[in-house]
Amino acid sequence: MCGIVAYIGNKDPKPILMEGLRRLEYRGYDSAGILVCNNSKSQLSKIAGKVNALSKILENKTDITPHLGIGHTRWATHGIPNEINAHPHSSNSGKLFIVHNGIIENYDTLKMELISRGYSFYSDTDSEVLVNLIQEIQIKENIKLPDAVQLALNQVVGAYGIVVCDIFNPEELVVARLGSPLAIGLGENSLYVGSDATPFLDHTRKVVYLEDNEMAVLSKNGEINIKNIISDESIHPYVEELQWSLNSIQKGGFEHFMLKEINEQPKAISDTLRGRLLVGQGKIQINSINEYKDKFLNAKRVIFVACGTSWHASLVGEYLFEYFIRIPVEVEYASEFRYRDPIIQKDDIVICISQSGETADTLAALKIAKEKGAFIYGICNVVGSSISRETHSGIYTHAGPEIGVASTKAFSTQITVLILIALKLAELKKTIDPNLLLDYQFELSQIPEKIERLTKSAPLIETIAKNYSDSQNCIYLGRGFNFPVALEGALKLKEISYIHAEGYPAAEMKHGPIALIDKNMPVVVIATKKTNYQKVVSNIQEIKSREANIIAIVSEGDETVAKLANHVIEIPNVSECFTPILATIPLQLLSYYIAIIRGCNVDQPRNLAKSVTVE
Ligand code: M6R
Repeated sequence: MCGIVAYIGNKDPKPILMEGLRRLEYRGYDSAGILVCNNSKSQLSKIAGKVNALSKILENKTDITPHLGIGHTRWATHGIPNEINAHPHSSNSGKLFIVHNGIIENYDTLKMELISRGYSFYSDTDSEVLVNLIQEIQIKENIKLPDAVQLALNQVVGAYGIVVCDIFNPEELVVARLGSPLAIGLGENSLYVGSDATPFLDHTRKVVYLEDNEMAVLSKNGEINIKNIISDESIHPYVEELQWSLNSIQKGGFEHFMLKEINEQPKAISDTLRGRLLVGQGKIQINSINEYKDKFLNAKRVIFVACGTSWHASLVGEYLFEYFIRIPVEVEYASEFRYRDPIIQKDDIVICISQSGETADTLAALKIAKEKGAFIYGICNVVGSSISRETHSGIYTHAGPEIGVASTKAFSTQITVLILIALKLAELKKTIDPNLLLDYQFELSQIPEKIERLTKSAPLIETIAKNYSDSQNCIYLGRGFNFPVALEGALKLKEISYIHAEGYPAAEMKHGPIALIDKNMPVVVIATKKTNYQKVVSNIQEIKSREANIIAIVSEGDETVAKLANHVIEIPNVSECFTPILATIPLQLLSYYIAIIRGCNVDQPRNLAKSVTVE
């Protein structure tokens, strides 16, 4: 979590850093700060709060023309979110400054050692310890800053993405990475740094991604020198050319990124399908599956590993894989899997799903499964992300940048990819009738248009939302393919509106949750006309007789549930395996409108960050 930006070159870094921090606020937004300097002067500005508040302070600070700057937007780990704990942090000499993303796990021991050598600390952060460790090593060994950073990092346990500078030698920036991503943008006699490439997208499309255990020295003349922190080996920078459009990281006329991203789902899914679902040729083409066909065909078990919304997509994956390819599937929370000494057998395939590709638990689980000999396949959105690089093979969802903290288009595109893979493997394993496969392929190609139609229900959903904005609790129920949808609907509501919500398999209601149902407990039921429809209708009857209000997601033209529920939202008719994509969309909109009515910040909900790069 936390967003890092930095600049060195011949332009004024302030506007570059401020715009960069705004774009990185999805990573954390409880406090922010920047340091800028030139050869004679430096200026540090920090605030508790959001980046906009920082801009206001900077408006009055115009007495310096800097050429180097570092900035940070924070998601607190060590120390409460206040101005003191905000980054950048300085060393005791006031000479070195650092911005840091990650956690230094042995910071306490290092801090004690530094205190015993006369150091003092103004903040509660682990980052202040690191910058002082660098200072201590530099003075003791009488060495240059990059060498001191390298030695210090070899003493550190934990994760970091850092930028360090010396305000008395503002000719270079030192950056390093272990576990927290860092991208370096190559401009005209200028270098940019970001936790991802979005901060500098309008300045350059040329980017170098640092790998774990790599550090780089960035010079004012645009030179980059990369080396391995442990082996000291020099590394030739691999320059990638970014294809993202600037528009994809802006709101494009929508009030919030979340609403924009909900509405982008038809396009996002079309992008996911492009070049893979070849309806005209009656086939699905997935290069990574073709390449590793034998691994997939010989697999005895698939284990999905993920967190949050990506875990919910994994659950849909379980239903899809068992239904279409008759292979046993397990779905694991990455945070549990990694500490359980998991049993990995020969011919297991581990599929890691992650929008950001940076989630710390998923990355750690991946590494453990890899060490134990599993074949690792990744489903990620962010191209070049850590998870996508650690896997043996994988597929990108191509949803485009997702900025809203609440995952929306990432979920529907993950499910789209899972459907593609399930259908492709079913074809290869011959577990599907070829004509039925063609029908499914055609139906899948129609999904974007059906979502387009579905988003037209937004005004109806906004009206429904008005009835529930004061609710304290909410229950979501679904069965089969729609059970993960109930979990996802509940997660969306709790994370952006702060209403307590729980999702259950509808049939589990009688085993406990029904005790909670009364007239104050709204219940959202996904009751599309598929397997177990009648059983879900019975659940609705049971809820109704306990006087709860019912919001039902139903198939177009459903009259049975319409007579029982207080509100119905129709979704276009599709095969059961496609319902999770469609049924989730009204639930995303419902949460969005409830949160808006409650005055919540939907794009930056409290306590959350877009990518959870710490444990
Ligand atoms: O980037 P990832 O898909 O690995 O992120 C996993 C979760 O942190 C993420 O899905 C989170 O639950 C979202 N805020 C949900 O909307």
